[in-house]
Amino acid sequence: MAAEQKRLRIVPDQAANAAFLDDFVVMSGFGVTPAGGVERQAATAADAENRRWLAEWLSDRGFTVRYDRVGNMFGLHELVPGAPYVLAGSHLDSQPRGGRFDGAYGVLAAAHAADRLRRYHLDNPGRAVHNIAVVNWFNEEGSRFKPSMQGSGVFTGKIDLAAALATEDGDGVSVAEALGSWDMLGDTDVFAVGPQHTSPGHTVASYAEIHIEQGRELDKAGVDIGVVPSTWGADKYEISVIGAQSHTGATAIADRQDALYGAARVVVALRELADEYGDDLHTSCGQLNVYPNSPVVVAREVNMHLDLRSSSDELLEEAAAKLARTFAEIELSADVEIERRFAHTWKGHTYQPEGVALAEDVIDELGLSRMRVRTRAGHDSTNMKDLVPTVMLFVPSVDGVSHAENELTLDDDLIAGVDVLSETMARMVEGEL
Ligand code: GLV
Ligand code: MN
Ligand code: MN
Repeated sequence: MAAEQKRLRIVPDQAANAAFLDDFVVMSGFGVTPAGGVERQAATAADAENRRWLAEWLSDRGFTVRYDRVGNMFGLHELVPGAPYVLAGSHLDSQPRGGRFDGAYGVLAAAHAADRLRRYHLDNPGRAVHNIAVVNWFNEEGSRFKPSMQGSGVFTGKIDLAAALATEDGDGVSVAEALGSWDMLGDTDVFAVGPQHTSPGHTVASYAEIHIEQGRELDKAGVDIGVVPSTWGADKYEISVIGAQSHTGATAIADRQDALYGAARVVVALRELADEYGDDLHTSCGQLNVYPNSPVVVAREVNMHLDLRSSSDELLEEAAAKLARTFAEIELSADVEIERRFAHTWKGHTYQPEGVALAEDVIDELGLSRMRVRTRAGHDSTNMKDLVPTVMLFVPSVDGVSHAENELTLDDDLIAGVDVLSETMARMVEGEL
């Protein structure tokens, strides 16, 4: 073990771990809710406050902070002039009444890991072949502005920049306006990657992200770290159920075109579809807006956001076809029309096996336990893995709770994750991925 530990570049250090936990407490105060979660949706005041705090943290340690044209935030540290960067991070934005760990843990872990590396290279000059950058991706959650993973989607060329900037929240405020109001929208790209960049910029060698699992597998097995070999696929739709507005008391049942009745049938059909496939298909309606949503009025229209996910792309296709048949039945029996638009989609796909092997080696050398966990949730790494070699790590979520105020990951697990990320990034900076 002693000989193996000599291979570690970043030796776990109690003072550094205590500093991480202290900073995490500070960060969890931005947008804190009475129940101990956070409400920090993209480009709101709480998100901006958190971003400002992180910018100062990074600047104080010598990182150069920059925003790109969709508000992704970078902290850059150059070790080898002109060399590509190892990028690491996640997202600081949250769901409404979200948990304090989802995304935020990964950004702070990356910042601390990058700073450990900065100090390591001061003492060990000449070992780096890449530079280091921390990233806080804009709008991973897709709650205030749809879709999710928007900042990394633009970065990787999967989402059109102009369309992203024009996306409006429920009050008609656009992404460009919201980011502009906090002075967090750059006018050039920071990295010259993807098809949309306009200016010469830095390049990316590889990407690393650590995140809470948001499921039960690690917690149930009592394992320290998850390494993500692949992702489930996802299909998200927006649908409009269109009926006719009428009187709840006076209109005969036979005459009604009740959009809310049609929508309710869609919700039930979605759940029954999941039940049909056991654990291989997850379905939800996460958002439903009723018009005019008035007590004595039969609804004329309901807009809904549907989310279908599976480990199998074929199964997703099959489920979509069944859903289309069910929609046709609902249209007939509820006398409504259903319009469907694709909102966001990604395929089930693998992360680079070399990255999985690298992370597993690090975990073993740190004496921690590990298992492979396929991600059901989307992450910014879902986009990044299609651009550059990417390592995705998980730490346990107590009882698998996520997107809720009672999300919890224990301090020892948080710290183990930062140690693994630091050493993984150290090897990536030396060109091991
Ligand atoms: C994003 O977090 C998603 O899973 O859609
Ligand atoms: Mn997340
Ligand atoms: Mn999330």
